[in-house]
Amino acid sequence: MVLDQKNFTRYLNRHEIDVAVRGVAEKLNRDYKGKKVVLVCVLKGAFVFCSDLVRQLDLEVDVEFVRLSSYGRALRSSGTVTIIKDISIDIRDKHVLVIEEIIDSGRTLRFLYDRLKSAEPASVEIVTLLDKKAKRVTDVPVKYVGREIDDQFLVGYGLDLEEKCRNLPDIYYLKYPN
Ligand code: IMP
Ligand code: MG
Repeated sequence: MVLDQKNFTRYLNRHEIDVAVRGVAEKLNRDYKGKKVVLVCVLKGAFVFCSDLVRQLDLEVDVEFVRLSSYGRALRSSGTVTIIKDISIDIRDKHVLVIEEIIDSGRTLRFLYDRLKSAEPASVEIVTLLDKKAKRVTDVPVKYVGREIDDQFLVGYGLDLEEKCRNLPDIYYLKYPN
């Protein structure tokens, strides 16, 4: 498989991922019961998590997509965020849930959160499958977390290394090159 030549170790298997996704879905189903929500899936990485999550939501949902510049070809965030693809609806007075697969420095979501807030939605909350909390350099209000993780570079389940490995069903960790 794609990982053969690299130093990868399995970090979360599909059962562990499923438990994390279910945990988030249950909280959302409880907290948003009877409400309509707009899911804003952050491309590309969150597409796998979002597709698993949305099928466990017993809510009326609109699914929107944004794409932001982020790591690109580097293992570390550049610090500057720009919009490559924006959402296509008006979110004023709507309940918005930002769906992200992993938060590292928090810069990407800080930018997106502030931008969404300026459109005057009824609410905005952040949902992430994985949270590298120790890496945070900017404060960002993350309400729903599937699992807190250590500072490791991960691939699989939507997460990429130079656009590869997004299709792996499990999540693997890669040692930072020295
Ligand atoms: P942040 O702005 O530093 O929080 O970076 C967030 C984005 O960087 C995530 O949405 C991912 O796309 C990417 N990213 C962060 N950590 C990893 C990782 O361990 N593997 C792959 N992509 C990552
Ligand atoms: Mg992402």
